[in-house]
Amino acid sequence: MAADTLTITDNRTGKSYEIPIQYGTYPGYGATINAMDLKQIKATEQDFGLLTYDPGYTNTASCRSSITFLDGEEGILRYRGYPIEQLAEKSTFLETAYLILNGELPDSEQLQKWSRAITEHTFVHENIKKLIDGFHHDAHPMGTLVGTVGALSTFYPDAKNIHDQECRELQISRLIAKMPTLAAFAYRHSIGVPYAYPDENLSFVGNFMNMLWKKSELVYQPDPVLEKAIDVLFILHAEHEQNCSTSSMRAVASSYTDPFSAASAAIGALYGPLHGGANEAVLRMLAEIGTVDRVPDYIKSVKEGTGGKLMGFGHRVYKSYDPRAKICKKLAYDVFAVTGVNPLIDIALELERIALQDDYFISRKLYPNVDFYSGLIYQAMGFPVGMFPVLFAIARSVGWAAQWQEFLLDPDHKIARPRQVYCGCKQRDYVAMDKRK
Ligand code: SDX
Repeated sequence: MAADTLTITDNRTGKSYEIPIQYGTYPGYGATINAMDLKQIKATEQDFGLLTYDPGYTNTASCRSSITFLDGEEGILRYRGYPIEQLAEKSTFLETAYLILNGELPDSEQLQKWSRAITEHTFVHENIKKLIDGFHHDAHPMGTLVGTVGALSTFYPDAKNIHDQECRELQISRLIAKMPTLAAFAYRHSIGVPYAYPDENLSFVGNFMNMLWKKSELVYQPDPVLEKAIDVLFILHAEHEQNCSTSSMRAVASSYTDPFSAASAAIGALYGPLHGGANEAVLRMLAEIGTVDRVPDYIKSVKEGTGGKLMGFGHRVYKSYDPRAKICKKLAYDVFAVTGVNPLIDIALELERIALQDDYFISRKLYPNVDFYSGLIYQAMGFPVGMFPVLFAIARSVGWAAQWQEFLLDPDHKIARPRQVYCGCKQRDYVAMDKRK
């Protein structure tokens, strides 16, 4: 019977090592060896021992998680076992958030209690407005969000009590509930319009729309088609296992800091154009291309390496069509029926058509990801491009919170402290100024 081990022979010494293999729960996926088992492999007794070198952690499991399953080859995404396609069609963002956080779909009483908990925490301390007022009028709303979410740690010092379940749940409700408020306030500040306060009679998304777009009317009436579309987009963006921002959340939280300080770091990671900032970069790219007939030249510049990347394409895990992009592409037309067609969609469709038949992209398994179509929808709704990653952050606060909690409850958890391969100078002595070249 084959043993569940690796036999490694170090040809430098002729020594052999038996390294145990552990398995995940999904057939054919998640078999690992413990990196620390490699440390015993040394050329001489003075050796440090073998390390793995893995920039960007392309083949390194940082944790065990039961929240999200991705199959990059098949284009599968499941939250707690439920396919994203079914959740997008049948669930709501708050119900999906409950599922991601608690592991099971809520019954009606649990959902009511959860929705009430979120509604209760949508207001922010009045002093937060003074903080936002201090930002320049054209401050990028993601920069404002990094600051205001981090500032929540000063308004809720009890958030440091991270090992208390009840306290964690309170901070999670506060984070998820206040993200739309902070996002809307940042938006209103950037367009010089007074803040609109939360309306507790509206849904999570309806209230967000109210805080964004309410004018002088007494009660804001959200457009139901747009309200539903934003809710679906939030479901699609809620969680995605160990992506850059979630890994940042886990790494910062691993020093046992409070969840607001960790979430601020996660927002900073999401801000980047290679991650959540890609939806903004896609729209800037489409606007730069300008017309459908200029698409071939742009593709050529990408392939030659002179035109930057094809933003909204490619993914570390998906080596096939991102299932979320498929849903976004269909959703766009529901929104356009209300807002009018975003003319940039034709450029996006032509980019996709050419890229999906071009060997440069096929050989690198580059397909549209969630960011390729989402920005077109946001722009059609009237969001400025700077708000696109902010919308992503509102939804992803659920995944950050769930992964933060799972990290703290994981008996294997440790403070994140990778090693390095040192390739700098050997020891040398200090040189007095008059002796330096
Ligand atoms: C998100 O991880 C997640 O789950 C993220 C996310 C989530 O929900 O949290 O799904 C959200 O961030 C989606 C990705 C959004 N980013 C973009 O759309 C930016 C454009 N995409 C690329 O920057 C890139 O595809 C990444 C960052 C997404 C993935 O990069 P990898 O896995 O490190 O791959 P790589 O850079 O090593 O690329 C492999 C090859 C390279 O070519 P060669 O050096 O082999 O010749 O593919 C090329 C890359 O140059 N390539 C691209 C490309 N993406 C990769 N070439 C042109 N256009 C692109 N978009």
